[in-house]
Amino acid sequence: MAETKKIEEEEQKITIEDLPGVGEATAEKLRENGYDDIMTLAVASPKDLSEIGGIAEGAAVKIIAAARKYADVGNFETGEEILERRRLIKKLTTGSKNLDDLLGGGLETQSITEFFGEFGSGKTQIMLQLAVNATTPVENGGFDSDVLIIDTENTFRPERIIQMSKYKGLDPDLVLKRIHVARAYNSHHQILLGEKAAELSKEFDIKLLLVDSLTSHFRSEYMGRGSLAERQQLLNRHMHDLLRFGTINNAVIAVTNQVSARPDIFFGDPMTPIGGNIVGHTATFRIYLRKSKGGKRIARLIDSPYLPEGETVIQLSEDGIMDGS
Ligand code: GTP
Ligand code: MG
Repeated sequence: MAETKKIEEEEQKITIEDLPGVGEATAEKLRENGYDDIMTLAVASPKDLSEIGGIAEGAAVKIIAAARKYADVGNFETGEEILERRRLIKKLTTGSKNLDDLLGGGLETQSITEFFGEFGSGKTQIMLQLAVNATTPVENGGFDSDVLIIDTENTFRPERIIQMSKYKGLDPDLVLKRIHVARAYNSHHQILLGEKAAELSKEFDIKLLLVDSLTSHFRSEYMGRGSLAERQQLLNRHMHDLLRFGTINNAVIAVTNQVSARPDIFFGDPMTPIGGNIVGHTATFRIYLRKSKGGKRIARLIDSPYLPEGETVIQLSEDGIMDGS
């Protein structure tokens, strides 16, 4: 907690106008494109900046170099410190033993887990189930904690929470009291809510933060090639806010993502997740959901840093998520 405060204060002291070669006009251009603080500039590439227009590549190199000096990017931790932080990692059950096993015991705190798949593949159902599960005691695979949901598609349904809670023998009213839902009306609102999450965590013990959907606003607001760089920049910032929340609060971050069909892929599965490399690299665990017969869904773990790839079957039902067969 104290550490973020310190970082925030340091970031506030220096604005992008303080960087050499950044006058009023350049600052405005940078801000319009999502480069509104030292940290976003410090991690940008000269090519990204020069694509904005009006900034030569040489100037971009200087701006980034200066931003890197100010920003706390060279933050080294010893292996021992990282191990200590990782010892605190806790796991949240999905409700399906199969899926938990695939994930090495459940969804990890301090990481982002992404569920992607087409409409009706069960992403929202999994989010609702995770919300219920997080409120249950540790011995039942939960955190006995509150939950924060950033709902961008207006698909949160208290009725489903009630059904899933009853099935688990929980008091639905108590569960609903612990789930805090914020509706995000557009991508900027969504980013703001991601930042505000830290405030809510001072009042409530939040060990699960859900974003359903991570990408839909960004996808519909930033269409076409011209706005791609800006979209990726904003998504990157948003995801890092989420990750920071997860690290500071030792919380699970779970997000949903849609897929788009790639007409250039003729062999194999043409469905690819939205958000490109930014989402792909920031999410530690990615699970691809495919429809099967009835309420069955195939969940496939891809790109995990230390777990083997694999897939399993889950079942969507009135009572929630469980093992499929
Ligand atoms: P989009 O948000 O549209 O991309 O889809 P999604 O992946 O979030 O799909 P969602 O989680 O909404 O899954 C919808 C599916 O869940 C439906 O097709 C149903 O099969 C199943 N489902 C939802 N509610 C119930 C329910 O009350 N009972 C049962 N049996 N199945 C349900
Ligand atoms: Mg959904």
